Amino acid sequence: MKVLFIGDIVGAVGRKAVKQMLPSLTSRYKPSIIIANGENAAAGRGINRQIAKEFFEWGIHGVTMGNHTWDQKEIFDFIDDEPRLVRPANFPEGTTPGRGWTTIKANGKELIIMNLQGRTFLPPIDCPFEKVDALLAPFKGKNKAILVDFHAEATSEKIAMGWHLDGRASVVVGTHTHVQSHDERILPGGTAYVTDVGMVGPRDGILGMEREAVLRKFRTQLPVRFVVDEGTWHFHAVIVEIDEATGKATRIDLIRKYEEDLLLE
Ligand SMILES: [Fe+2]
Ligand SMILES: [Fe+2]
Repeated sequence: MKVLFIGDIVGAVGRKAVKQMLPSLTSRYKPSIIIANGENAAAGRGINRQIAKEFFEWGIHGVTMGNHTWDQKEIFDFIDDEPRLVRPANFPEGTTPGRGWTTIKANGKELIIMNLQGRTFLPPIDCPFEKVDALLAPFKGKNKAILVDFHAEATSEKIAMGWHLDGRASVVVGTHTHVQSHDERILPGGTAYVTDVGMVGPRDGILGMEREAVLRKFRTQLPVRFVVDEGTWHFHAVIVEIDEATGKATRIDLIRKYEEDLLLE
């Protein structure tokens, strides 16, 4: 089974990129299941009902989130009714809105997706390593296809999670830092791993945000309101092959596309 995972989709430019890229990616790679990180989809901050609906209409089967999960107030109105959307699982015990994992079924295939958030340079929520152990326990020895989106800032914490889950998850992808890392590999236990998938959105901004505002912040240290940049996009994703008999990954490939290239094709 092939799984396409699309990194953090940022704002209107990022959404346009996904809509433009999906037809050619699906015809080229023929993924059974498509998952995307949607934490920045609504103007860089969270996701709303309309955008989630659009993603599912375009052929995305499951959406993961991150530290921006709660930025749009509307999320509280629909997160419990949307089983295809997951938010970080390691919020304190008893945090009720939303779910941290779900089973995605599409094209006769089944993929369990889990979302966790790191604690290094991010709010100190519960331990993602302990939480993922608890989530995985019921699936031990069942050879299920399992994808973990580890939304974290520190490369060390993400690499640690990759090794922690080697042989227990089919895929561990990092999100949040918005820059695609070049360390994709199959770990010895059969886990496909990459430290960060990279973002989808404005290429000439700073992690998707308008660069003058970010520069002003760095240079003056004054409070600045960040807005999503405009202009042409870059698109980052990974395509992973999983052996359904064993739940092990056999291949991972990085995908990077620029709007200019798409226009030339
Ligand atoms: Fe993000
Ligand atoms: Fe994030």
